[in-house]
Amino acid sequence: MPSPISPEIWPARDYSRVPYRLYHDAALYEEEQKKIFRGPVWFVLGFEAEVPNVGDYRATQIGDTPVVFSRNEDGTVRAFVNRCAHRGAEVVRYPSGNAKDFTCIYHAWCYKLDGDLVGVPFRRGANGAGGMPKEFNLKDHNLTKIRVRIWKGIVFGTYAAEGEVEDLETYLGPLMCEHVGDLMRKPIKILGYQRQRVAANWKLYHENIRDAYHGSLLHEFNRTFGMSRLTQVAGGYMDDKHRHSILFQYAGSDSDEVARAAYAENGVQRGDYMTLNDYGITRHFVENKLGISTRIISVFPNIFFHQIYNTLAMRQLRTLGPGEFELVWTLFGYEDDTPELTQHRLNQANMVGPAGLISMEDGEALEMVQRSTQPDTDKAGVVEMGGIGEIRSLDTRAQEVTIRGFWAYYSQLMGLEPAGAQR
Ligand code: FES
Ligand SMILES: [Fe+2]
Repeated sequence: MPSPISPEIWPARDYSRVPYRLYHDAALYEEEQKKIFRGPVWFVLGFEAEVPNVGDYRATQIGDTPVVFSRNEDGTVRAFVNRCAHRGAEVVRYPSGNAKDFTCIYHAWCYKLDGDLVGVPFRRGANGAGGMPKEFNLKDHNLTKIRVRIWKGIVFGTYAAEGEVEDLETYLGPLMCEHVGDLMRKPIKILGYQRQRVAANWKLYHENIRDAYHGSLLHEFNRTFGMSRLTQVAGGYMDDKHRHSILFQYAGSDSDEVARAAYAENGVQRGDYMTLNDYGITRHFVENKLGISTRIISVFPNIFFHQIYNTLAMRQLRTLGPGEFELVWTLFGYEDDTPELTQHRLNQANMVGPAGLISMEDGEALEMVQRSTQPDTDKAGVVEMGGIGEIRSLDTRAQEVTIRGFWAYYSQLMGLEPAGAQR
């Protein structure tokens, strides 16, 4: 079923109106899988540190396609679609583990760690009858391979052949190379995983991650304890294509008095009803040379990194249909962290993660949007904070221009740019 959505869907060519239909259309969702998640992009499979030994593997999902990456006998990391070449069963059934080979449980076809088919039971038949035709060649039935590149310990993959997608560093651009590179500046240690299901369209999460405006309004804890306030030195930057983004800020660059006055003037200072018995959770040990206290980074199309004070995580977005997605959080620290610092990172991760105050609130907000927009998909939301027209990086969080940037790049990839579109 082709999507009925065309470039005319956009009420404004600077993406300052976002039609609600884009969050609900099932045919559009199918096209996104093809043009984005299986398109000319580099997606992130995981960290190299998750598969340190030969045979280590992790099952994951790119868009809605199940994939696996593993450490091959030659020490390289390989990746393939987790779908048996025989009848299509998932070959790898556990989220992670160590294997000598991968054997499908349905009819026991056996694949090597790199996805090559090496065994088909009863290939010659039984008791002289049946079996595969003579022409059947194992080599024609390997698992679908994904091209892999490792960059600073991150496992990237693409379905695109060389020449169909930029090389990885060009794809990431200087902004991502600087900030993601800084988070990956030394060997990491995996601290654990969290998962969060949200009953909302996956693009609402991209909007949320790029939504500089809401950080201290929805997240009252952030504002109360000075982790994120619109009165702080902050910004929202994008690369030239607006493909990736970073929201950043410097805690401590405003004062409680200035912040309180600004929020009171705007009618959103709700009093100081929140207190903490232990302020340890809000402590920040400056680790990066820039002194940034929070960085929320979006690497198109499926990964978000955060550094919120001392908690570090990669959040992987897995689509589950037009109205649902899952986030898989990989919490990490560094190999040379002290036990105390590891504990501190984990405490702060609890505060931020799905069971804490911040991501739980985001999930709830997005589900509210999904529910209330469903009956009126011909209407559109407003994205004007920070100005309309030109899409550019700004040194403030009182803006939503980065959200318009997402839609500009999305529309380019999807072939949905309106005539005279703002890029
Ligand atoms: S579906 Fe995998 S062996 Fe038959
Ligand atoms: Fe948020």
